[in-house]
Amino acid sequence: MSRNLIKEGVKKMGRLTKSERFPILEGHPIGQQHGEAAVESVGNLKKVMKLSDKDKKRKEFRIYRWNPDNPNQKPFLQSFFLDLPSCGPMVLDALQKIKGGEDSSLSYRRSCREGICGSCSMNIDGVNTVACLKPIDTDTSKPTTITPLPHMFVIKDLVVDLTNFYQQYKSIEPWLKTRKPPPDEREYRQTPEDRKKLDGLYECILCACCSTSCPSYWWNPEEFLGPAALLHAYRWISDSRDEFADERLQALAEDQRRLYRCRTIRNCTACCPKSLNPANAINKMKTRHLTERTREDLEAEPEPRFGQA
Ligand code: SF4
Ligand code: SF4
Ligand code: FES
Repeated sequence: MSRNLIKEGVKKMGRLTKSERFPILEGHPIGQQHGEAAVESVGNLKKVMKLSDKDKKRKEFRIYRWNPDNPNQKPFLQSFFLDLPSCGPMVLDALQKIKGGEDSSLSYRRSCREGICGSCSMNIDGVNTVACLKPIDTDTSKPTTITPLPHMFVIKDLVVDLTNFYQQYKSIEPWLKTRKPPPDEREYRQTPEDRKKLDGLYECILCACCSTSCPSYWWNPEEFLGPAALLHAYRWISDSRDEFADERLQALAEDQRRLYRCRTIRNCTACCPKSLNPANAINKMKTRHLTERTREDLEAEPEPRFGQA
C-alpha cells in the first residue's frame, strides 16, 4: 500500500469515533486493538519522519538466533536497526526488510500476511501473536524483542517444531462424522441458527499462540491436548450435523490429562490474535461431561495423585 493511501486512511480514521472505525471487527476486541495500534503507529510514524536526527528514526529489533548447523553455539539475541520511515507498519514487514536487506539467513514462517494462515506466530515483546497483525511499536527509545513461541523445540531462529501440536489436532478427528448418508444424498444441511453456534470456534487459524502460552501445556505438552486442539474438539461437538458428539467427549475425558489438565488460567484467551475464547470452550466441555456423568461414574474416578499438575 502506498504511503499516500495510508496517510489518507489515517486522516479519515481521525474523523471517526472509536466504534465507527472498524465496524467489520465488531466482537473482535484484539482485532480492534491491533487496528487502533496500527492507526496510532502510523500517526507516530509521521512524527518520527519529521525528526531531523537520523538516529531517532532508527528502531532496534532484537531477534532470537539459533542455527542447527552450529549446534555448539548457544542461542543469542541479535540486534538489527531499521529506518522506520522506509519500513512497512507491521512487525512482519520489519522481518521481511531485515531478511531482504540485512541477513538473508534469518528464518521465520509466513505466508498470507493477513492473519489468515497462522504461520507467522511468535513472541513479540513478551506476548504470543502473529507478526503480520502486530504493528511495530514506533517508540525508538526502546527495542522490540522477538523470540520463538515459548516452550517449543526450535528448528532454526523463529521456526519451531509443531509436529506434536498438529498430531494433537489430528487426534480430535477434525472432520464431520455421521452414521447415515445425507437425506437428499447430496449434503448435510443445518439451519442458520445451528450454523451460528459455530461462530467463535471455526475461525481458529491454528497459529498455536494459545497452546504455547498455556502453563499447563508447557508442563504437560504430550498428555494435555492444549487449548487449540480442544477448541477444535468443541467446534465438532457443537456441530448440529455431527452424530458423534458423545463419543468425542468420552474420548477426550477417558484420559483425565487430555482435557482436565486445563486449570482455567485463561492465558490462552488473553493472547488469541483472533479474539477466540478456548478457555470458555474447554469449560463448556468439562461442564457437559461432568453433568452427564452419574454419581457412580464420579466416585469410580481415580483421585489425582498428590503433586500432579
Ligand atoms: S484456560 Fe486452560 S488451556 Fe487456557 S491457558 Fe489456562 S490452563 Fe491453559
Ligand atoms: S484459538 Fe486463537 S491462538 Fe489458539 S490456535 Fe486458534 S487462532 Fe491461534
Ligand atoms: S503470515 Fe499468515 S497469519 Fe501472519
